[in-house]
Amino acid sequence: NKKAFIFDLDGVIVDTAKFHFVAWQRLAASLGINFTEKENEQLKGVSRVNSLKKILEWGNKEISPEVFQAKMDQKNQEYLELIKTLDVKDILPGVHEFLLKLKEQKQPIALGSASKNARPILEKLGIKDLFDVIVDGTNVTKAKPDPEVFLNACDQLGYSAQDSVVFEDSVAGVQAANTAGMISIGLGEQNILHEADQVFNHFTDMPQDFINILLNKKK
Ligand code: BG6
Ligand code: MG
Repeated sequence: NKKAFIFDLDGVIVDTAKFHFVAWQRLAASLGINFTEKENEQLKGVSRVNSLKKILEWGNKEISPEVFQAKMDQKNQEYLELIKTLDVKDILPGVHEFLLKLKEQKQPIALGSASKNARPILEKLGIKDLFDVIVDGTNVTKAKPDPEVFLNACDQLGYSAQDSVVFEDSVAGVQAANTAGMISIGLGEQNILHEADQVFNHFTDMPQDFINILLNKKK
């Protein structure tokens, strides 16, 4: 009895969502745009380029393609600076244990992230080898809520979408999983992630036998 277990990175495995927020907020400020936490919720799971497009749209601002590119680079530089000291301590509660349990049961594990920084981050955390397949922002053409990233991951693992489970902290990611026909598990607040099949604050809030429950669950 097996399923493909697909994990988002930022905000699910590691507490980097807060750094993306800070970096976008500084970037927005540099353009004279006010950027709120509520708006940030809509950027979770969204690619770098689409995030900047949205911020400009909300701020009613237009910039040249050259400035656009420069601002994207600026945001990433800022972000990389903020995650410089990231290490194993920044893995979110219960995640490492959950991954190890899956490994013990020989369940296939994939990463499905929009981030172009995913691989170096997993390396910093020392958990890259736990993933059988990594699909990240360097591999996909269509960003979440498009299901491409997750479909690509389950394909590579050799599983069908209906035999896949996705762990997500973003609305866009939950929608992507649902569109793909995968079981969606939200990590975060119920009121934000209500479209998910089930929501937990943290992996530590899941029942002891949650892997088994998932293995027997149908979408
Ligand atoms: C997602 C984050 O995982 O990756 C977004 O939730 C981020 O906030 C996106 O914008 C792209 O990440 P990066 O690291 O390529 O800028
Ligand atoms: Mg995320």
